[in-house]
Amino acid sequence: MRISVIGCGYLGAVHAAAMAKLGHDVIGIDVDERKIDDLQASKAPFFEPGLTELLSEVQGSGSLSFSTNIADAADADVHFLCVGTPQRKGENAADLRYVDAGFRAIAEQIKPGALIAGKSTVPVGTAARLAAELSVLQPGAMLAWNPEFLREGHAVQDTLSPDRLIYGIPDGPQGQRALELLDDVYRQILDADTPRLTMGYETAELVKTSANSFLATKISFINAMAEICEATGADVKVLADSIGLDDRIGRKFLNAGVGFGGGCLPKDIRAFMARAGELGADQALTFLREVDAINMRRRERVVELIREELGGSLLGKRITVLGAAFKPNSDDVRDSPALSVGAQLQLLGAIVTMTDPEALANARMRFPELQYEQNLEEAIGGAEALVLLTEWKQFTEADPVAWAQLVSVPLIVDGRNALDIDKWREAGWHVKAMGRP
Ligand code: UDX
Repeated sequence: MRISVIGCGYLGAVHAAAMAKLGHDVIGIDVDERKIDDLQASKAPFFEPGLTELLSEVQGSGSLSFSTNIADAADADVHFLCVGTPQRKGENAADLRYVDAGFRAIAEQIKPGALIAGKSTVPVGTAARLAAELSVLQPGAMLAWNPEFLREGHAVQDTLSPDRLIYGIPDGPQGQRALELLDDVYRQILDADTPRLTMGYETAELVKTSANSFLATKISFINAMAEICEATGADVKVLADSIGLDDRIGRKFLNAGVGFGGGCLPKDIRAFMARAGELGADQALTFLREVDAINMRRRERVVELIREELGGSLLGKRITVLGAAFKPNSDDVRDSPALSVGAQLQLLGAIVTMTDPEALANARMRFPELQYEQNLEEAIGGAEALVLLTEWKQFTEADPVAWAQLVSVPLIVDGRNALDIDKWREAGWHVKAMGRP
């Protein structure tokens, strides 16, 4: 099939490459020329494991191209809308300007019988509004909402082997045609017995926001338990292992630490609360305010922990923050706990060095006033405290004996509960973890 992907960020670039891998003829569109030049040269514009290889593979076969000109997408049978929905400045609500602009641009080009499939995370009600607009702009075209659940760092695999496919489609013949087109797109994935659920627009939009809200709630739940553990001397990791063995609960997303960040969970729960308010259903989601508050408190807690360990003052203390990305295997620093803790430590007078295998360039753009050091040995050399905030293997699998020779004080705060504490203590380190005695 001929497919276009509008928006080539973390979601769209991977989606475009994955659709070409499924055998389609794909064109990726973005307004950012630099990004398009990179992609055209098979260079991933951000760090995502496996993406560069996938781009080279599919571009070699001629099935993937990129352009800044939306008219180049006019021929496609299916147009995937993959633009960002960031948080509005000074508000909780999502900023829909890129969705609206991308949608209108493609709606002016789309041929009759073709489909726009929205992938962006949008407030419930958006798809119905866009469908009404489309029925005026191009009555012969259709709209579906087809949310995406990929995790950064696993995006290629999550796109090619998703847990499920969600189709939000209208009733009637247009909905039936949209379903057939999406099935044609995802034929290989469906043949692998991937569950496919069809529903109305509103439910499909809510599947995405409620899934992210559930995940955020699960993380904040275990972080709330970490606060109780800190108040009682209990161990949150043992607690998580124990409750996680109940398969109604499950161990995944019960890692306590400095909390969640990134371009999705924080802004999605806020946008969801804002939307519920507009719908007169804000009471249903007041718990998400607590989820957000617990999450933000963990950042303050880790700063407090370091201050306590350094004798009550951070002034002039050389601290190395291990990690800048919001999670390992990503260079994304959007709402990154590591970066916000680094900035907070610096504000309180510490001399902070940030190190990260992939995210330093992005981090420097956000907080140019922090010091950045790519070389790990240089970064930790002479430090009076290390703080692990992104659990990259380079940090969690480091040799504590060798590192003890490099630092000035062997003190490490594990903000992700990712270290083998006994091993570090045996090597002479003083280790503090979050929610653990
Ligand atoms: C998330 C959803 O998982 C994905 O389905 C959706 O499409 C986009 O948002 P992503 O933001 O890539 O994906 O990262 P995810 O792996 O969910 O982690 C989010 C944050 O939670 C990270 O900062 C991570 O460090 C943190 N986290 C995760 C925890 O603090 N504890 C956990 O147990 C799991």
